[in-house]
Amino acid sequence: MKRIGVLTSGGDSPGMNAAVRAVVRTGVAKGLEVFGVRHGYQGMIDGEIAPMDARSVSGIINRGGTILHTARCMAFMEAEGRVRAAEQLARHGIEGLVVIGGDGSYRGAEALHAEHGVRCIGLPGTIDNDIGGTQYTIGFDTALNIAMEAVDRIRDTADSHDRLFFVEVMGRHSGFIAIMASIAGGAEEVLVPEEQCDVATIVARLQLAKSRGKTSMIVIIAEGDEQGNAFSVAKKVAEMSEFKDSRVSVVGHMQRGGSPTAFDRILASRMGVRAVEALIDGATGMMVGIENQEMVLNPLSSTWEKKSQFSPDLLRVSRLLAT
Ligand code: F6P
Repeated sequence: MKRIGVLTSGGDSPGMNAAVRAVVRTGVAKGLEVFGVRHGYQGMIDGEIAPMDARSVSGIINRGGTILHTARCMAFMEAEGRVRAAEQLARHGIEGLVVIGGDGSYRGAEALHAEHGVRCIGLPGTIDNDIGGTQYTIGFDTALNIAMEAVDRIRDTADSHDRLFFVEVMGRHSGFIAIMASIAGGAEEVLVPEEQCDVATIVARLQLAKSRGKTSMIVIIAEGDEQGNAFSVAKKVAEMSEFKDSRVSVVGHMQRGGSPTAFDRILASRMGVRAVEALIDGATGMMVGIENQEMVLNPLSSTWEKKSQFSPDLLRVSRLLAT
């Protein structure tokens, strides 16, 4: 194998640039030619493929987003789209691919290998931290720290006004950011999609906190919670309790931007190195993960067969310390 490609796909996450840098520089150091594919699979179909060298990834390790740009591509879900993409790769002589993204992106990679023989290695790039086969995904730590800082700032104004706040953080199907931010930010209550919780229970917990002398309170809500978004939870709580004058704050896409933390930069760098080494060793259909400090390879399919879940003990700790 002489030529490999690298792309970012799905929602961006801080640290993707560090991963791209690591893939390019490792490839170059090992004597490979490395091509960057812009705009994910859509760019592959459209032929947005260009050579990269060590200098083309200078000064990006500290930058959020992805210099390769990203997309969620419907056309690649169809066999016909993959035929066009494979033709573009063949035109550039690219035999191996590093796909930085989430499990949706890996399904495409798996199909590309099965149908066209392109060797593919995945790197987990998402702020949600919900990909099976790795304890951490690239971008989660940065997003969590932004969520925590948002909670800290809201705490100041909540305290000053003796107010109840509902703070919505990201995680469509995953409460990782919410539960971690609730512990790190000392929230009074947390709602996550992994746990069923009715509004009466939330109200009871808030009333208990109030009876214990709390004058301001913060409820963190993962955007994918079954009770709805922060606005609808605040409305339901107001309808059935004395907590009528709360405020809602949605942290939103701020969590996806900004300079990655040291943790994410190091994680992305190690994963990028391992991905290229895996390709050179002939691996395909695998994702690089981190388990107990070590880089590991797990089948791409395992990433969507079993989502990574946070320990239920975190909910216990969050609620115990919210008293
Ligand atoms: O998967 C990452 C994520 O940030 C989720 O937490 C969120 O639900 C989703 O992407 C938002 O996607 P979009 O940027 O397309 O609105």
